Order: sequence, then structure tokens, then C-alpha cells
Amino acid sequence: MGTFNTPATENKKKLTSNLLSPLPVVLLGTLVNDRPNYMVVGYVSPFDFGRYVFLSLYKKRYTRIGLHEHKTFSLNMPSEALLKEINICGSRSGRDINKAELFDNFYGDLKTAPMIRECPLNMECELHQVLDYGENEGIIGRVVKSYADRDCLDGDKIDFRRVLPVIWATGGDFNYYRLGDRMHTDPGR
Ligand SMILES: Cc1cc2nc3c(=O)[nH]c(=O)nc-3n(C[C@H](O)[C@H](O)[C@H](O)COP(=O)(O)O)c2cc1C
Repeated sequence: MGTFNTPATENKKKLTSNLLSPLPVVLLGTLVNDRPNYMVVGYVSPFDFGRYVFLSLYKKRYTRIGLHEHKTFSLNMPSEALLKEINICGSRSGRDINKAELFDNFYGDLKTAPMIRECPLNMECELHQVLDYGENEGIIGRVVKSYADRDCLDGDKIDFRRVLPVIWATGGDFNYYRLGDRMHTDPGR
């Protein structure tokens, strides 16, 4: 039985920030002016039990031009080996540099959603809905197909210890972290 008589603030400091963190770093791919372009998107989440994704996009992003033109995009999960490329894609705009040159680009079923071969996991998505949030847009995409490196698979299941995702502490110190050890083979059972 829990106790109810200690003030909430006893060991808690009240904050106003969103603490749903850490989240994986993802590279959002679009075809802009006939060239693949990639940007880091940190505010991203699966939605509708994984059938859709939800992400936040500033309207000023170069990425947005291709996303609205083709109504398709990709999400690519880089491993920590791609830290240098992540830093470029998260700080330099496709208006100023050619980010397609950083990677081996490939296309799937959608033809206008460029993906990154060096990223162990890729998803191609079609734009489903755009929510207007002033300076930002909330982008909802339907996952059409996904691709996984064979050497990151254990049977048909992805072993994230082989993916080595970069994890971003958005609600914390805004640093990157790496995934820890597996605790359970089958949570919830
Ligand atoms: C860790 C991290 C997370 C980011 N998350 C987002 C995000 O969720 N939405 C967004 O619009 N920009 C985000 N950015 C910024 C863009 O990645 C950055 O401005 C990029 O250069 C835009 O590229 P573009 O101009 O070619 O579209 C993030 C950057 C970093 C480093």
C-alpha cells in the first residue's frame, strides 16, 4: 500500500519541460529539387501502434519543400559510426550543401523517398496529414515499407545492440547516448 501524505515536491523539483526522453536520432530524407536531402529529426515518434509516425518540422527547413512536393519521405536510423554525418545533417542546410554526397542513396517502392544505405534501418513513408503549429508543422506519415540490414537481424527480429542507435536526451542535457544492455528477453511475460 502506498502512502499519500508526503508533499509531491519533497524529492521532486517542478519543471515545465517535456521529459519524454531520450529518443533515437533519426535522419529524415526527402527529394528536394531532384536531389536527396537529409536532416536530423529528434522530435519523432511511432503513432497508431507503429502504422504511422509523427514528427515536428520547422516550416523554414529546406526539407519541407520536398516533403510537400512529393508527399513522401523516409526515416533512417543511423548507428554511432555515422556521428560525423549526423552532425552535418543536423547543422547544415541542403540550401547550402549537398548532403546526398554523404551517403549511398537508394529508393524503395515510393521512388521519391530517398533512403541511406549506411543506416541499418530505413522506412519509407507517405505524407498522411499536416498539422499547423505556427512556426512548426506536425507531420503524420504512413509507414509503407521498412528495410533492415541483414546483420542486425536475429531471425526476423531486429537486435538493436547491433544497430547501435544514437539516443538523444532531448528532455535532459541534449547530449547523445548509446543503448545499454538487454534486461529481459521478452518483457511483460
Ligand atoms: C539532435 C537534433 C535534433 C533535431 N530535431 C529537429 C526536429 O525535430 N525538427 C526540426 O525541424 N529540426 C530539427 N533539428 C534541426 C535540423 O536537423 C537542422 O536545422 C538541419 O540542418 C535542417 O536541414 P535542411 O535545411 O536541409 O532541411 C535537429 C537537430 C539536431 C542536431
